[in-house]
Amino acid sequence: MNILVTGGTGYIGSHTCVALLEAGHSVIVADNLCNSKVDIVDKIKQITNKKIAFYQIDVTDEVAVESIFSKHYLDGVIHLAGLKAVGESVEKPLAYYYNNIVSTMVLSKVCQKYGVRKFVFSSSATVYGDNTVPFNEKMNLLPTTNPYGETKAMCERILTDIVKVNPSFSVSLLRYFNPVGAHESGLIGEAPTGIPNNLMPYITQVAKGQLDKLKVFGSEYPTVDGTGVRDYIHVLDLAEGHVSALDNLIEGVHIFNLGTGQGTSVLELLKAFEEANGIEVPYEIVNRRPGDIASCYADVSKAKQKLGWAAKRDIKAMCRDAWRFEKNYKELEGTNRIG
Ligand code: WQD
Repeated sequence: MNILVTGGTGYIGSHTCVALLEAGHSVIVADNLCNSKVDIVDKIKQITNKKIAFYQIDVTDEVAVESIFSKHYLDGVIHLAGLKAVGESVEKPLAYYYNNIVSTMVLSKVCQKYGVRKFVFSSSATVYGDNTVPFNEKMNLLPTTNPYGETKAMCERILTDIVKVNPSFSVSLLRYFNPVGAHESGLIGEAPTGIPNNLMPYITQVAKGQLDKLKVFGSEYPTVDGTGVRDYIHVLDLAEGHVSALDNLIEGVHIFNLGTGQGTSVLELLKAFEEANGIEVPYEIVNRRPGDIASCYADVSKAKQKLGWAAKRDIKAMCRDAWRFEKNYKELEGTNRIG
């Protein structure tokens, strides 16, 4: 199938493009490069030996989006483009509501106009709020603690309402847990600009000596060792989950958790990273981060039953692949991320 991937040069987007190409699909990428670099297009080609079409556009721009639909016959859209930093969303709510919601409405509108019926949406486990773990797709959603989470919950509702009046529109809402790791080639991975918000890129930058030690946000949570528990999923497993959701997409709205079903604490992840890579990562326990919940991990039975998909890669593989990319990144880019 011919698939438009918005945000296709981003961390999850680039891995999803690789998985789509390796599954035999054709890929068109739209990205405004606000959080990624155009050389990712060449790296995707280097990995897959396949060409992709790339358009540097903002997917809130309806005219620009329509120009792609008029040039390419599309079977579906995987909408990954969006702002995704929880803390930043608290400081810049309008940017988050505008970007994440208008982009989804523009894409849905143009899909209707051009008769494109398959739509896979990048949602997030954040929409569950501080529910009881493991989170399952039938749960009532609780208010999230930030505008980012609210944009994902609102986009889910918008898409659900669109399907009610367009039953031929097939929508898959994929709730990601915590994507980490990188393609085994070391060519693509998670390269946040500035100081990383997320745990794994922070660990890899400490391991490389770019940051002096990991700050562990809180050690008094009601968890196995008092530190936050999350469901870390290898980004390649996540990417393959998108292909599976697309290939099995039927009419209606379908919600799937993309996680491993396993909870891992901060200290457990740190230990796994040190063991997998034979490197020590210094850390200190500091205060909790506002907005964090104690535990977040998935009930993954629905994706297994309906899609025949399950995460395959374990936590050590995530740690090895994340570290390989981090070491490779500097050599490849020759640039310093900070600043
Ligand atoms: C993981 C754990 C922290 C950094 C967020 C978004 C979520 C998704 C993934 C987009 C927590 C602890 C972290 C650090 C730490 N993004 N931590 N020191 O907050 O679970 O999820 O990113 O879809 O929507 O909410 O991920 O990696 O920031 O934190 O101790 O320097 O690591 O407290 O327990 P999070 P994270």
